Amino acid sequence: MRRIIVPVFVLTALFCLLAASAALAAPEAPKDPVEMKYPDDGNKYAPIMFMHTDKHLGVAGGCATCHHKWDGKAEITGCRVEGCHSDTSREMKREPTSYDSAFHSKDAKMSCVGCHTANLKDNPDFKGPKKCNDCHSKK
Ligand code: HEC
Ligand code: HEC
Ligand code: HEC
Repeated sequence: MRRIIVPVFVLTALFCLLAASAALAAPEAPKDPVEMKYPDDGNKYAPIMFMHTDKHLGVAGGCATCHHKWDGKAEITGCRVEGCHSDTSREMKREPTSYDSAFHSKDAKMSCVGCHTANLKDNPDFKGPKKCNDCHSKK
């Protein structure tokens, strides 16, 4: 009997320790709205203030769904960093790595429009913004 109980106990203890350290390491999302805007002066609209609401934080996959290059350890960055969606030239906006694709791509479920569109398909009561002017307002 002892020969079984001891390893089970050790494994349980180890598991609890791992779970506790994972919970401690879970990063917190900014409480304040995060401003998103093109870095040039050519903007048509006012900046978008993205909020980490409960609905957003509750998406399947959590942080890593939107922060899809995040390795689970490093500091979380915004979209427009080197190697991600850093291309802000408006001519290249159809490229998947453009800044524009990060929020307008209809095919990518981690973009604003992509995720909202997919949600709307499954759930007619989806209340998130759908049309241009639901997200954008004149500056
Ligand atoms: C779900 C939200 C969302 C929807 C819907 C949406 N956009 Fe955007 N859009 C954004 C975000 C986020 C940005 C990046 C922040 C910024 O620069 O405004 C952006 C940026 C832009 C920009 C560049 C910035 C500027 O002010 O010139 C244009 C142009 C634009 N969107 C046009 C559109 C058009 C046209 C539609 C509808 C076909 C649309 N968007 C739908 C979220 C959205
Ligand atoms: C529904 C999508 C979504 C989810 C889920 C999400 N975020 Fe975000 N987060 C964003 C967007 C969009 C931005 C603004 C990015 C930008 O400005 O380029 C952002 C910005 C941030 C920033 C600021 C980065 C910077 O340097 O500007 C941090 C930190 C962050 N998120 C942490 C988290 C953490 C931690 C979680 C999970 C608990 C999380 N986010 C979940 C979409 C999301
Ligand atoms: C992975 C999925 C996902 C992504 C990506 C996502 N959203 Fe949402 N969004 C949601 C869900 C779910 C809701 C809640 C809709 C409801 O209440 O029915 C929502 C709601 C919203 C709302 C309404 C207010 C609120 O928070 O409830 C705004 C505004 C919004 N999203 C903006 C954005 C913008 C801007 C981006 C991109 C920068 C974005 N979302 C990216 C899933 C997403």
